[in-house]
Amino acid sequence: MGKVYVFDHPLIQHKLTYIRDKNTGTKEFRELVDEVATLMAFEITRDLPLEEIEIDTPVTTAKTKVLSGKKMAIVPILRAGIGMVDGVLKLIPAAKVGHIGLYRDPQTLKPIEYYAKLPADVEERDFIIVDPMLATGGSAIEAINSLKKRGAKSIKFMCLIAAPEGVQAIHDEHPEIDIYIAALDEKLNDHGYIIPGLGDAGDRLFGTK
Ligand code: PRP
Ligand code: URA
Repeated sequence: MGKVYVFDHPLIQHKLTYIRDKNTGTKEFRELVDEVATLMAFEITRDLPLEEIEIDTPVTTAKTKVLSGKKMAIVPILRAGIGMVDGVLKLIPAAKVGHIGLYRDPQTLKPIEYYAKLPADVEERDFIIVDPMLATGGSAIEAINSLKKRGAKSIKFMCLIAAPEGVQAIHDEHPEIDIYIAALDEKLNDHGYIIPGLGDAGDRLFGTK
């Protein structure tokens, strides 16, 4: 069964408070999402494999460790996921970036895919799907379906705020997926928004409301 990791690092929690605050404007919101994505990338890469190499320091030779060449890919769910990409790339600069475009039909709340473009060597890569919000779970499930359909074998899902309903929905459909979140909120409201949440992540990132 996939695990749920809640990153309760004080810096993440502090920044998340200002991300949630309705008085935080677009510029600051964008910067904070970027910073939290970097901090979460630090945590999510804890289990990256290392290998030992020998190097010369100015005084001697030393056996020391480097990353053992894992092939990674970041996949934002458009639109709001875009806000987390640069933050993750700061720590994993060699990662490729795929894109999956989904929007929630406002009536049915069902995700509709309108775009998908992934790196060519899908089967060899470890994918991290990023999206600030996991609400009903429909978008995340559809994004995971989309990656699996194209051959992805290793997928993690990372978001800022999740509702318990969304976590459950992912694990009902894709029990093996590990989920990485900065906060597990209380519930969804009747419109599928996370309570207390942060409002509409896409609109707050791009200033469209
Ligand atoms: C938001 C958010 C997620 C989705 C989560 O996107 O960025 O992708 O909702 O909701 P769910 O778990 O119920 O599917 P939205 O559909 O508003 O599209 P946008 O990013 O284009 O604004
Ligand atoms: N999508 C958002 O942007 N916010 C929510 O609270 C739920 C879905």
